Amino acid sequence: MHALQSLHTFALPSQCLQLITISRWQQLMEIDFSKPFCLLGEGSNSVFIEDFAGVVIKLGLKGIAIHEHDEYWSIEVGAGENWHQLVLQLLEKGIAGLENLALIPGTVGAAPVQNIGAYGVELAKFVEYVEGFDIKTKQRVRLNTEQCQFGYRDSIFKHALKGCFVITQVGLKITKQWQPELSYGPLQHLKHTHPSAWQVCQAVIAIRQSKLPDPSVLANAGSFFKNPVVSNEHASKLKQQFADIPTYYVNDAQQKLAAGWLIEQAGLKGHQIGGIAVYHQQALVLVNQGNGSADELVTMIKYIQQQVWERFAVRLEHEVRLLGHDNEVHIQGVVCE
Ligand code: FAD
Ligand code: EPU
Repeated sequence: MHALQSLHTFALPSQCLQLITISRWQQLMEIDFSKPFCLLGEGSNSVFIEDFAGVVIKLGLKGIAIHEHDEYWSIEVGAGENWHQLVLQLLEKGIAGLENLALIPGTVGAAPVQNIGAYGVELAKFVEYVEGFDIKTKQRVRLNTEQCQFGYRDSIFKHALKGCFVITQVGLKITKQWQPELSYGPLQHLKHTHPSAWQVCQAVIAIRQSKLPDPSVLANAGSFFKNPVVSNEHASKLKQQFADIPTYYVNDAQQKLAAGWLIEQAGLKGHQIGGIAVYHQQALVLVNQGNGSADELVTMIKYIQQQVWERFAVRLEHEVRLLGHDNEVHIQGVVCE
């Protein structure tokens, strides 16, 4: 048995049968994928809510190669590289573009899985290809951006390729025509200062540090729920009732709501169940105060889903990947419609 508490940032006490760290993709050829397995980077979006009766495969593939072209940079990165360190290293070399995604925890290999995004930018904008190991054919396969089917916190790796594709390398294409992305509210004040990419990066880091708990200090997995997408009709009904509800257009027919706002308005900011709490500075983040249990977390998830449903008729879906006894589990605590 191998302890998992230090391998995921929510830090629940749990164990797995076996842990294998992959440092060369060829090691994947030798793994018996017919038995329960779970792919893991730095565990900042995964929570083990039971002991895992299988092998946890930690992706540690390293390497960063930078190729300069006339109008853009191609960057090839091993799945086990740390995302934030990559952002910093590129900025140090004068390669700007990823600064809005600074300080997002985790590995480069996990970044395409949920198409990491923050402050008006998503990873998809920079992906040239995602390379991985096809578990069924044991071949290495390269997918282009379109094939990755990126969406909001979504990609093919959560659907058709879930459980059958191990990302080993990510190829990024970063244009030399850098433009700061300052559309997100708290970055807008920088517009008139013509900031450098470093300055945008520092501003992003400062905003994140003011809102989000550092997992090395207070165990958490970032936003616990996705921001829900509802029809225009549903959004305007909510606006009639709650004039200050934040909404963002996704397309002509749908709007995104702020789950953090919904949870706060449901009176749950700071709410505590045993050792699990709704973070007092950002209601979308759940924290493990050190002694939290999986049962308390599951109770909290269902309670939040139920309360938000009763007040707003909106279903919250957890963004964080929950691992049960031998597979991923989904919790939906809404019981009445
Ligand atoms: P893990 O938790 O290890 O894995 C995540 C999922 O990807 C799992 O399902 C796993 O099986 C799968 N996976 C991992 N590696 C591979 C691979 N090589 N091949 C195939 N599948 C793989 N996310 C955002 O998008 N934006 C944010 O602003 C943001 N802020 C955060 C802030 C905090 C404080 C925390 C704790 C998290 C935040 N997150 C954010 C979530 C998290 O950082 C991202 O989801 C990140 O990409 C997870 O990386 P990881 O290596 O820790 O993934
Ligand atoms: N809000 C509240 N109360 C709260 C939290 C938020 O009223 O407790 C309101 C804010 O005032 C704002 C709106 O909700 O009007 C949105 O809040 P914020 O800008 O903090 O962003 P978010 O929607 O809560 C999302 C991502 C974050 C990402 C930030 C910045 C999701 C699920 N979360 O959070 O990603 O860093 O935007 O772009 O999309 C993560 O995925 O782990 C994560 C942290």
